[in-house]
Amino acid sequence: MKTLEQDLPELRPGQSVELLKELHILTREGRINQDSRRKLKQVYHLVQFIEKLLAQVPDAPGHPTLADFGAGKSYLGFILYDLVLRQRAEGHVYGIETRTELVERSRALAQRLGFGRMSFLAIRAEDAASESALPEAIDLVTALHACDTATDDAIAFGLRRKARHMALVPCCQAELAGWLRKEKAQALSRTPLAELWRHPLHTRELGSQLTNVLRCLYLEAMGYQVTVTELVGWEHSMKNELILATRTGQPKRAAAQRLRAILAEFGLQGLEVLRYPGLQ
Ligand SMILES: C[S@@+](CC[C@H](N)C(=O)[O-])C[C@H]1O[C@@H](n2cnc3c(N)ncnc32)[C@H](O)[C@@H]1O
Repeated sequence: MKTLEQDLPELRPGQSVELLKELHILTREGRINQDSRRKLKQVYHLVQFIEKLLAQVPDAPGHPTLADFGAGKSYLGFILYDLVLRQRAEGHVYGIETRTELVERSRALAQRLGFGRMSFLAIRAEDAASESALPEAIDLVTALHACDTATDDAIAFGLRRKARHMALVPCCQAELAGWLRKEKAQALSRTPLAELWRHPLHTRELGSQLTNVLRCLYLEAMGYQVTVTELVGWEHSMKNELILATRTGQPKRAAAQRLRAILAEFGLQGLEVLRYPGLQ
């Protein structure tokens, strides 16, 4: 029988096996099933990207600060803490999650493990920007498969608090597809490009693609440098797009213009005030 290290090559020296058991990623006997392996791979990959971004954050009392949107069971927050923050004297992870039972579970687990610099807030992502329990100075905003518009709320929060970095892996997206659907008949009479979203399946796919394209343009327009990459191989997850953004403080007018032009082309101008406020 393989040892845990052979079975799980991603496991790092010094990493808490107890934590992985507490998170039910490993069984009590230290074994792992396919679903957990897939999840762990995603989390590890994201942690690697985040680690590199955090290495650029200057040392300062209380930092780095991280906000994890749509935290769920907080696999990401706990593993980040274990691998990155535990050996540092400073830094704090804030988990944002609507489901109170998950928040309470995470609080209890952090206490059991002695992970003192973790907080879990039972709030909606859209309310985070006005939440006083979250610090003003946020170094990194992350969201791993936060549902639908929770990723947009994470972006809005990051912009409001001038986060240094954002690392976002969007989930399913319904909002923009809904807008495309509503305007479909009109679009079909206006442009042959509307064939791109005539069939319901295509409406969903294009809605998803367009949402992420607009998010990237918005971030650029608001003063972030953006890269888009794969989180893990497509065999591990269909929701695999990773948007990395780093604040430059230099808004790009051209990106704002492009964003507006795309909204107009798709008949989505109504989305600007809702999702892309503050464009120049
Ligand atoms: C697909 S799960 C992902 C959980 C976790 N990030 C992970 O990758 O394991 C999405 C989580 O986002 C939470 N969520 C959905 N909408 C939210 C919102 N508007 N504000 C805060 N949390 C939200 C859900 O309750 C759920 O736990």
